[in-house]
Amino acid sequence: MVSILGISAFYHDSAACLVVDGEIVAAAQEERFTRLKHDHNFPIHATRYCLSEAKLNAANLDYVAFYDKPLLKFDRLLETYLDYAPAGFSSFLKALPLWMKEKLWMPDLIRTELAKAAGEEDERAAKKLGKKFEWKLLFGDHHESHAASAFYPSPFTEAAILTIDGVGEWATSSIGIGQGNEVTLLKELRFPDSLGLLYSAFTYYTGFKVNSGEYKVMGLAPYGEPKYVSLIKDKLLEVRDDGSLKMNHEYFSYSQGLRMTNAAFNKLFGGAPRKPEARITQKEMDLARSIQAITEEVMLKMTKYVHKETGMKKLCMAGGVALNCVANGRVLREVPFEDIWIQPAAGDAGGALGVALAIWHRYLAKPRVSPEEAGAWQSARALKNNVGITEAKGASGNTSNNGLAAYADSMKGSFLGPQNSESEIEEFLKARQLPYKKYSRKVLPEAVADLLAAGKIVGLHQGRMEFGPRALGGRSIIADPRSAEMQSAMNLKVKYRESFRPFAPSVLREQVADWFELDTESPYMLLVADVAEAQRRKMTPAEEALWGIDKLKVKRSGIPAVTHVDYSARIQTVRRETNPLYWDIIEAFRQKTGCPVVVNTSFNVRGEPIVCTVEDSYRCFMRTEIDCLVLENYILDKKEQPPFDDIDWRSRFKLD
Ligand SMILES: [Fe+2]
Repeated sequence: MVSILGISAFYHDSAACLVVDGEIVAAAQEERFTRLKHDHNFPIHATRYCLSEAKLNAANLDYVAFYDKPLLKFDRLLETYLDYAPAGFSSFLKALPLWMKEKLWMPDLIRTELAKAAGEEDERAAKKLGKKFEWKLLFGDHHESHAASAFYPSPFTEAAILTIDGVGEWATSSIGIGQGNEVTLLKELRFPDSLGLLYSAFTYYTGFKVNSGEYKVMGLAPYGEPKYVSLIKDKLLEVRDDGSLKMNHEYFSYSQGLRMTNAAFNKLFGGAPRKPEARITQKEMDLARSIQAITEEVMLKMTKYVHKETGMKKLCMAGGVALNCVANGRVLREVPFEDIWIQPAAGDAGGALGVALAIWHRYLAKPRVSPEEAGAWQSARALKNNVGITEAKGASGNTSNNGLAAYADSMKGSFLGPQNSESEIEEFLKARQLPYKKYSRKVLPEAVADLLAAGKIVGLHQGRMEFGPRALGGRSIIADPRSAEMQSAMNLKVKYRESFRPFAPSVLREQVADWFELDTESPYMLLVADVAEAQRRKMTPAEEALWGIDKLKVKRSGIPAVTHVDYSARIQTVRRETNPLYWDIIEAFRQKTGCPVVVNTSFNVRGEPIVCTVEDSYRCFMRTEIDCLVLENYILDKKEQPPFDDIDWRSRFKLD
């Protein structure tokens, strides 16, 4: 047995991942355990969890792998500082102590921290124990870790690879090829030219938090007009035909400063950045739309170039920018790849998984049998073009039992985190004397569907926790999408977040094409497509003339709670094979209402990491206006719960 622990840490969203004999056994982000969003500290809790899942001790590991190369990153920092001296001096001074204290001494630090994970609390004793560990410590390259996370768990035997993020060591984007057990990077774009940092600069300028508010900018874009596209292209950057960028760094200060943009940028766009929480105006909406349009253009150019350069039929993507599901949807529709697969933990957390798999397949040269080769995957598109999905043969190994093209990757639906047993849940409920009803697994889906159909908002905690930023039905809040009021009710009373933000639909994979302009897999909510024409409701001229958020309140389709102002939706397709209880709940809801779609949003409030434990879920349920809580087979009704004494939780989480 060969066990490999992958770690990403010290930048953004720390995580650990355990791979045993090539299988991803467990993966989790540190924030879920410490309740500190995007926690960047050493992932000691996530590591402990991963080891416990495989009943391993830190001493018994064979390999420990870190997702990037600290010395190369330091080299970039130093060189950039020298380039921009003296302007960059203050940010350099701010970064230096952390580098001197932790990052440059990474091997020692990792050994000491893992000794703590093994149960050694005393710092000196942990240091001593760490030195005794016999496993080999390896460091991956940042973009190679992303590329490995994109290709190895994908369904494909061979594919082109594209990684795009803010910055790793030097690379900000890379292209390559995955074949069998090999990943080869061919070209890279280098810091400070970066699509990720460009998007983050606009995230900053529109008043959202860099490294987490990018999603909000994408959600805001459909309210605006692409008014600033030509100004951005004239002054800020040149987009070449291959999708590479040349940015004009007179307008940005991320290379030398602690801010993303500077006075020249402010002057160009007519004023200082919006203050966080200040009113959002048409200007921010137009800026969001403009930077989103440019991002889509760059991603289309990059992927077309990758297609031409590699000659591959399939594409895998990772890196933070691969979470831009609007751009991904366009890549799917407009670039002639047969299929695309995107790593659900596309950001730096996924680097832990990528580097662990890279050790197994590249360093140890272990062969890889892709789901495609094993007959566990078949392109839905290819099937449709040739024989039609419904004609695909029964249980012949390449179709699933419900007549769909078989589909499997190695991510296990991204359900790679901790799960609570029935006895743990019952113990929790009994210890606190909380009223509940217990159902059999057979009737539970119908009971939940009844609640949804009655307009209740349901907290759903079942199975293993998701790895990556999206909740996929393991730790989700779900509701009826047919209600026009549900969107604002959920934003204001449950999530306590900005009312412009739309919600995402989870839809039965079998029915996705009837409800959306999409007929392929989107298991990780990483593709945006429009609501199907037949499901839309034509707006009256008066409704059409409404502006911004008022337009969002208009019933624009049969599922208004998940229909954005431009009719788009961020779709999660649900298969019974990977997510049985969630599929059963949606199917029961469909049988009751005719609608195979539910609203799915992550189980948390604004600024809070997604819930992990039963206790987290109960607390979030009681703090908000969620009506019912489903903990595996147990359902709790808010009306029956005893009073909940709580601190003012709004002071507990920093707004994101
Ligand atoms: Fe990255």
